[in-house]
Amino acid sequence: MAITIKSPREIELMRKSCRLLSEVHDELAKVVRPGISTKEIDRVCEELIRSRGCIPNFLNYQGYPASVCVSVNEEVVHGIPREDHIIKEGDIVSLDTGLIYQGFHSDAARTHAVGQIAPEVQKLLDVTRQSFFEGIKMAKAGNHLHDISNAIAAYVTPFGYGIVRDLVGHGIGTQMHEQPQIPNFAQRRRGPKLRAGMTLAIEPMINMGCAEVEWLDDGWTVISADHSLSAHYENTVLITDGEPEILTL
Ligand code: MF3
Ligand code: CO
Repeated sequence: MAITIKSPREIELMRKSCRLLSEVHDELAKVVRPGISTKEIDRVCEELIRSRGCIPNFLNYQGYPASVCVSVNEEVVHGIPREDHIIKEGDIVSLDTGLIYQGFHSDAARTHAVGQIAPEVQKLLDVTRQSFFEGIKMAKAGNHLHDISNAIAAYVTPFGYGIVRDLVGHGIGTQMHEQPQIPNFAQRRRGPKLRAGMTLAIEPMINMGCAEVEWLDDGWTVISADHSLSAHYENTVLITDGEPEILTL
């Protein structure tokens, strides 16, 4: 399928979907504390989504059993919430969730520090978040998709971190995953031209060590192959003729 261009009406619905998701993330940030189970975070998340009249788009997606991915420390993405996984002081916790509002999907992720973390861990979180903002400096109509990828990679690479290659960002709209795929590492081709009305989920996943990842036996949880800490930051973004609109902030 081609990259969809959203009409003004569809853009309004995307904005609303994403605004509701940003509220969910703001509320979730408050519950991530030592002693809470990752399953409890999922229960809170599902309630935050449903109480807004929305549907959790992760739940049952290709069999995924929860409304949020909770990925702790060396877990990169798609951590499955569990009653027996208790958050502790010093953890870094990536929350990735999304919802459907009137048929339109939103998707965003944040990595939270729990209490005190070492300065070098905070730096991983800061660089991961900033790499998103470096990427979207290139996100405007007339540029090419891989200008975003290359800007993310150019910013992250000097820090010596591993940029995850096996998972990428994506278009989003009436489906959670639409064309195009959006890599976070350097590309030799330019990729498709960006046009106003595209909505993209841009989501760098950065490991403190190597870029390689592995899958746990649960079939979902992705971890860094060297078990180094990993961070994730994602927003749904609208391409315009001028500055991009970050819809989930
Ligand atoms: N948020 C993920 C993404 O950005 C999708 C998670 S798939 C799920 O592509 F099944 F884990 F929900
Ligand atoms: Co996504």
